Amino acid sequence: MKNVLVVGSGAREVAIARCVSQSSIKNSLFCVSKDINPQIFDLCKDYFVTDLANISDIVSYSKKTRVDFAIIGPENPLANGIVNELENVGVKCVGPKKEVALIETSKAFARKIIDLCCPEKNPQRKEFSSIEGVESFIKQLGGEYVIKFDGLMGGKGVRVSGEHLKNIDEGVAYANEITNIGGKFLIEEKLIGEEFSLMSFVDGKVCKHMPVVQDHKRAYEGDTGPNTGGMGTYSFGNHSLPFLSEKDINEAQKTNELVAKQLFDETGTPYVGILYGGFMLTGGGVKVIEYNARFGDPEAMNVLSVLESDFLSICISMVDGNLKNQDVSFEKLATVCKYVVPVGYPDKPTKNFEVFCDQNDRSLFLASVMLKDQKLIACGSRTAAVVGKNKDIFQAELFAEAGIANISGNLFHRKDIGTKKLIDSRIKRMKELLQ
Ligand code: AMP
Ligand code: GLY
Repeated sequence: MKNVLVVGSGAREVAIARCVSQSSIKNSLFCVSKDINPQIFDLCKDYFVTDLANISDIVSYSKKTRVDFAIIGPENPLANGIVNELENVGVKCVGPKKEVALIETSKAFARKIIDLCCPEKNPQRKEFSSIEGVESFIKQLGGEYVIKFDGLMGGKGVRVSGEHLKNIDEGVAYANEITNIGGKFLIEEKLIGEEFSLMSFVDGKVCKHMPVVQDHKRAYEGDTGPNTGGMGTYSFGNHSLPFLSEKDINEAQKTNELVAKQLFDETGTPYVGILYGGFMLTGGGVKVIEYNARFGDPEAMNVLSVLESDFLSICISMVDGNLKNQDVSFEKLATVCKYVVPVGYPDKPTKNFEVFCDQNDRSLFLASVMLKDQKLIACGSRTAAVVGKNKDIFQAELFAEAGIANISGNLFHRKDIGTKKLIDSRIKRMKELLQ
């Protein structure tokens, strides 16, 4: 009998909680989060409502409820050292200690680790803590650049030239904005190509890889608008993507393996948990865009919806350093996941409106919602995700849309994610780049 604590209560954590509760290993589920997600609540023996910044309260709660191990969903508690604190009291964690979670927390640290183990995967870049030299470096990159705040910004700290930054002056102004709050930032060469996410289970030494997924970070159809936490994702039944070769996938897998090893060599702390590589296939090969120290959201909903092996068993293998002997396999099915989000998201989201849906629908994953007087209320961030699953990706897309048709509220979503038109345009663009 295992007592399992899930930290967080978004759609990603619904996916995690469902997988734990389906395990053949007997368990009791506990959750800690700021809000009550009714879909997780229904699966739990107990639910502790607190801000995730209150790590000492979470540690006391874990001791009181005799938690055997914890699965950490979001990045902030990882950055704040929740794993260090929980492990001090004997709670093993699926999630890295803060020394290695730095791979997500600090963009500069991530680039340094990559430089040490696979420098060819890094774009040209420079670190800044003042405005000095910014303009000349932007010019050196030919005006094709990306400015990245060096810290956690919920996926919204990155601005790309030609998209968010119309000219050099706007780039300098954003750099000023960051230095005015005492922040550091990176300026990187703007890479051109197709992005994909490859997540791996890691036990400190061994990596076991998940199917590759493509996320859609921009808020609006046709990849326009501001960056978001991710508006939707798809994965194919062959666990690859139609614009990637086997070699590209192998390179990405190898990169995750090298990075996990380098993190240990550099810090002396083994990396245990989910390692998320954000890659781009460019005309010059596979490059790293970013690393995350947790399951992607929405990517978790894709991969966990097709996971064949016992998730809890994988978690136990990770924390016990025994992943080598663990079966990790996925159904050969395509998935399409789409988020419905409040009108105005991400910049000026509407909030506190009622959402109507069938909470018992297994393809629905509630996210930024709370229960108030028995009503489901949207809190302002991404509201709910729906996953369609089928042998054929376009059928999976239709299933996702059918699920979304059953949700109502002041919401919108990207209809183009997972459609033939969008995927064909990606294949065409990549072909042109590789010519
Ligand atoms: P990140 O938070 O680092 O994932 O960045 C958010 C988004 O910004 C990515 O998904 C990319 O679309 C874009 N981006 C980040 N770095 C680069 C880069 N060096 N070149 C082109 N686009 C980038
Ligand atoms: N889907 C992007 C992320 O989880 O950061």
